[in-house]
Amino acid sequence: MSATANPQPLAAGKSPGLAGNPRIPGDKSISHRALIFGALAVGETTVKGLLEAGDVLNTASVMRELGADITRDPQGTWHIHGVGVGGLAEPSNVLDHGNSGTGVRLVMGAIATCPLSATFTGDASLRRRPMGRVLEPLSRFGAETMGRKGGLLPLTLKGTANPLPVTYELPVPSAQVKSAVLLAGLNAPGRTTVIEPEATRDHTERMLRHFGATVSITDAGRQGRAISLDGQPMLTGRAVVVPPDPSSAAFPLVAALLVPGSKISLSRVMLNPTRAGLLAVLTRMGARISKSNERIESGETVADLEVTASALRATTTEPEIAPSMIDEFPILAVAAAFAEGTTRMNGLAELRVKESDRLAAVAAGLGQIGITCRMGEDWLEVDGRGTDGVPGGGRVTTHMDHRIAMSFLVAGLAARQAVTVDDTAFISTSFPTFIPMMEALGAVLRRPAA
Ligand code: S3P
Repeated sequence: MSATANPQPLAAGKSPGLAGNPRIPGDKSISHRALIFGALAVGETTVKGLLEAGDVLNTASVMRELGADITRDPQGTWHIHGVGVGGLAEPSNVLDHGNSGTGVRLVMGAIATCPLSATFTGDASLRRRPMGRVLEPLSRFGAETMGRKGGLLPLTLKGTANPLPVTYELPVPSAQVKSAVLLAGLNAPGRTTVIEPEATRDHTERMLRHFGATVSITDAGRQGRAISLDGQPMLTGRAVVVPPDPSSAAFPLVAALLVPGSKISLSRVMLNPTRAGLLAVLTRMGARISKSNERIESGETVADLEVTASALRATTTEPEIAPSMIDEFPILAVAAAFAEGTTRMNGLAELRVKESDRLAAVAAGLGQIGITCRMGEDWLEVDGRGTDGVPGGGRVTTHMDHRIAMSFLVAGLAARQAVTVDDTAFISTSFPTFIPMMEALGAVLRRPAA
């Protein structure tokens, strides 16, 4: 289904070797959090390298509605003057988060323990996504909600004036749920604890500490780890430098592996272990990726990568690694199509509730480009055809999902026949410069005749 009034199809064709050092925009997860924590801090927060894309800009508008003063200076630095923990104001309008599950779920957490009501909505994709996973733990703090059946948006959340701290074990490996609970815990007296059986991205914990909160992380044995936050801290405005988004870097990276003759370099790639699953898996598949200049920048390990076109071989990914590459499975599935042998990916249940049912969308897309695959409720098997073996030629439905669009455009650069995606409009939710950046590397992209 295409949901834009004027869908923007694009075709990707066989390309010469890609070359260059593309500039990858800021990390989406860290950008959302910088705006939210800046809005909850006292004093000025400055943010350099913020991702200026639809999802994050919606979070900026919402935090303004909730009382924060947020501006961008002509040099591109964002300045946030926050209201302090517990200081959010009741919004006078509906909060529209567009396509962003992260934005809406984290903000729900932040207001759940404030004495105000807010009504949330989003685009057709976001209105299909489950919110019950955050509403349930937020109700334990005392928040109330009223909305559609199944916890779907639009819904109204009434924060509580008398919050209770909560101990919550995550039933799904979701950094969004973990973060919503921790954000609610900020304005609850006492200690809020989240137990996560599998490690999910830890940017919230890092940023809470950066802004001055006390967070302790302990090994909870077979239960995973327990993250505890002392409630009602004073958060203080800080400087945040957002590193490039590894989930965006994944697209030119895989493109360079697949298009024969390519060699590109990627600077400052974030190697946070809760985000680095794709690099490990590609390396196992025979990808030629060399790392240099590993260093710490703003609390995150980054390194420069050089990526050379490679003959890939199939692999199996285990469920434990899935959270550290949850957004990278569409592009890994494309890489698997160009590998020798059958790749099996396990532990993919969460893909069903992303911007689209990503498991179904990937499987359908692979079918469109002539690849045989099989999927189960939480797994996918892809029969690879090797370098130069992918037929291509199909038209892929993107289902309002930026990562489906970008993944199949990458496939088209190395397939025998061009691959068309039905709508590129949603790419701007996370990576507005994707098309010109890929063209600058040498990718052949063209708008099909109407
Ligand atoms: C995100 C967490 C992930 C990821 C999303 C960003 C975050 O979702 O898919 O793109 O910033 O916390 P889940 O935590 O729901 O898996």
